[in-house]
Amino acid sequence: MNKFAIILAAGQGTRMQSKLYKVLHPVCGKPMVEHVVDNIRSLDMMEVITIVGHGSEDVRKRLGDKSAYVVQDEQLGTGHAVTQAEAVLGDKEGVTVVICGDTPLIRKETLEQLIQAHIEARSKATILTAIAPIPFGYGRIIRDSSGAIEKIVEQKDCNEQETLVQEVNTGTYCFDNQLLFETLKKVGNNNAQQEYYLTDVIEILRNDNQVVSAFCTPDFDETLGVNDRVQLAQAEKLMQMRVNEMHMRKGVSIPDPTNTYIGMGVEIGRDTVIKPGTILSGTTTIGEDCVIGPHTEISDCQVANTCVIRQSVLFESSVGANTQIGPFAHIRPGSNLKENVKIGNFVEVKKSTIENDSKVSHLSYIGDTVMGSDLNVGCGKITVNYDGKNKHLTTIEDGAFIGCNTNLVAPVTVGKNSIVAAGSTITKDVPEDALSIARAQQVDKEGYAKKLR
Ligand code: UD1
Ligand code: CA
Repeated sequence: MNKFAIILAAGQGTRMQSKLYKVLHPVCGKPMVEHVVDNIRSLDMMEVITIVGHGSEDVRKRLGDKSAYVVQDEQLGTGHAVTQAEAVLGDKEGVTVVICGDTPLIRKETLEQLIQAHIEARSKATILTAIAPIPFGYGRIIRDSSGAIEKIVEQKDCNEQETLVQEVNTGTYCFDNQLLFETLKKVGNNNAQQEYYLTDVIEILRNDNQVVSAFCTPDFDETLGVNDRVQLAQAEKLMQMRVNEMHMRKGVSIPDPTNTYIGMGVEIGRDTVIKPGTILSGTTTIGEDCVIGPHTEISDCQVANTCVIRQSVLFESSVGANTQIGPFAHIRPGSNLKENVKIGNFVEVKKSTIENDSKVSHLSYIGDTVMGSDLNVGCGKITVNYDGKNKHLTTIEDGAFIGCNTNLVAPVTVGKNSIVAAGSTITKDVPEDALSIARAQQVDKEGYAKKLR
């Protein structure tokens, strides 16, 4: 059977009070509509069409060729939105799934069951419904005395008795494709919101003696529709638990899952522990046997096995095996820390490479630097990489020892196995194996302190 999908995403999302298009608000780092599109695409659809509104360039840019697009110029309601796809789909035979771009939690397994139920019942329309503990805001599923579906009534059109109904429309449906577009022609806008409701198709079909059914999912949480920021936070929390559970089942320890935030695209190896207050986002990958956190933010980084990263912030960088970072380190974009490196407290690294077995243990700034292996940087070393106009490179070769409280004024090279004395301001290259001292000489005035007192 041919399967098509229509994703409704043209609404402005007034209730979000946002400059950002509603369906682009992220849940666990991924826009709501992209959750929907990815799930739909896993179901072997012949065509996926997203209905977008004006100013939807960002939606198209984000989804790219994951979907085709049809523009709904004016947002005249969900029925009107689906009608926009008629030119593309109208005459095709098959089943069409209609789903809202603001229901990111609906699982692909649930969609599969919905389609299955629709086909088995030889239904013309099957609504995905759920029992809502607080149904306010949703369309209510009205059944007759025999339990058959009569219609869907929107919150704003409900009478007192209808508001008490807890079975709600999740905004996801399966339709006979041709009948859907035929029936939409009969939908009017005589309702509280003066919109063309997709939901009215149900009553019209039923009055035409077509088979209309419902598939009620036991998990209401999954069907949460996000209309405002309160619901956005609820969706985030639910998705967060889902993501964390997935990682735990694959062998990652997360002792406090309600306080651990892992984006959809993040991968984590077995026996790694993610401690509370940690945020992992973007394309981050973490190896096996690592300890990450507490209170650590890692975005778009590749971290190899057996690393320990505590109370630190890392962006767009890579970290080799066995490396230790923190507490309180800041690794900025373009950094490449190799294996068995140690970065201690209050160290900032930017766009620098640090080779194996090197240590920067405390209070240093390493920027635009190529640092060799097996070298030690004392407390308070600064690369002076910026002259107010341009950035310059510092090179520190293998085995060097940089004393405490030193400035390396770039461009400058510190040679292999050399030693830079504490307190030095180095402005010229340091030769291999040399000891360089660049500081004022100490003068001792005997007995003078006594006199001053
Ligand atoms: C809709 C359903 C309601 C259901 C709820 C589930 C209708 C009339 N109501 O209500 O029964 O319980 O979803 O979450 O369908 N959209 C367009 N073009 C429009 C209007 C809306 O593309 O002209 C899109 C929106 O971007 C959104 C989706 O359709 O993704 C749903 O619209 P929304 O306004 O959020 O409908 P609800 O009031 O939540
Ligand atoms: Ca909605």
